[in-house]
Amino acid sequence: MERTLSIVKPDGVAKNVIGEVVKRFESNGIKIVAMKMIHMNQAQAEGFYAVHKERPFFGSLTEFMTSGPIVVMVLEGENVIAKNRELMGATNFKEAAEGTIRRDFATDIEKNVVHGSDAPETAAFEIGYFFNSFEIVG
Ligand code: CMP
Repeated sequence: MERTLSIVKPDGVAKNVIGEVVKRFESNGIKIVAMKMIHMNQAQAEGFYAVHKERPFFGSLTEFMTSGPIVVMVLEGENVIAKNRELMGATNFKEAAEGTIRRDFATDIEKNVVHGSDAPETAAFEIGYFFNSFEIVG
């Protein structure tokens, strides 16, 4: 069993696709073991995306991620890190495969509807960033 962090980003919340994203997880055998809606401030967004702080898009990304509420979830299942990334599709929606979340709903490389951890170490950091052990069930 593996866990990963999923975020429905401000554009996904604004587009009313929270349910659609959740449905894709659940219908693919992924369990949601924690979930909440939050609105990050600048410092929280910068801390979350600290690995990208040298990237040219860091300022714009953190501004976008604080522009509205997000839904953070802990997903659980076998190979769930890879499975979630498969369901999301490529970061750039133009390169995302047919039927993926980003291909269906993203409009921009930055406003790409969802985030998912990319490896076990990042999943552990990202889950711990938003949830304590009492907030995760199962
Ligand atoms: P995410 O999977 O959350 O990880 C980093 C985020 O930076 C990415 O999704 C996009 O929202 C954003 N981003 C903006 N521009 C780029 C870019 N050129 N390459 C990768 N990520 C980008």
